[in-house]
Amino acid sequence: MMKLVLIGYMGSGKSLLGKHLSKVMNIPFQDLDAYIETSENASISQLFETKGEIYFRKKEALLLQKILSENFKLILATGGGTPCYGAVMEDLLRSNNVLTVYLKCSVDTLVERLWKEKESRPLISHINSKEVLNDFIRKHLFERNYYYNQANIIVGCDGLSEKEIVEKILFKLF
Ligand code: S3P
Repeated sequence: MMKLVLIGYMGSGKSLLGKHLSKVMNIPFQDLDAYIETSENASISQLFETKGEIYFRKKEALLLQKILSENFKLILATGGGTPCYGAVMEDLLRSNNVLTVYLKCSVDTLVERLWKEKESRPLISHINSKEVLNDFIRKHLFERNYYYNQANIIVGCDGLSEKEIVEKILFKLF
């Protein structure tokens, strides 16, 4: 396996677990959102605001392709929407040496986490009640699960500590 690609909804822990896995497996870590921000010299929120979501999706897919074409080991945290646009999920599944891992969380878990950190996320930053956030995530996750569920490995994360999830992933890998 050359590249481990973490996918899942916003707040599912892709970056946090990616960093943890990187240490344990001794493989470099990269965060696709951070890469977009550096290469565009703007925050994700600024990009959505000034250039729009479609521009963001194009950049996201382009930079992912660039990363996939490079020949080194990597743990990659994607953005929540990365595999859900264009042919990204198909490309990921077709790539040799790429293993996709879906960090699966329930709507309730995601609502609790995202309610506290929605400001940096343009798709939900405007939502100002927990009930509306719950509604939004339930519908959105239903649509996106079509893509997420195609992952090579699916890891249920509800009620588990960071350490337990990492162990679960390692167990499925080896
Ligand atoms: C998005 C998720 C974000 C970021 C952007 C759009 C999405 O990444 O890419 O705000 O469409 O779900 P995180 O999953 O790291 O929050």
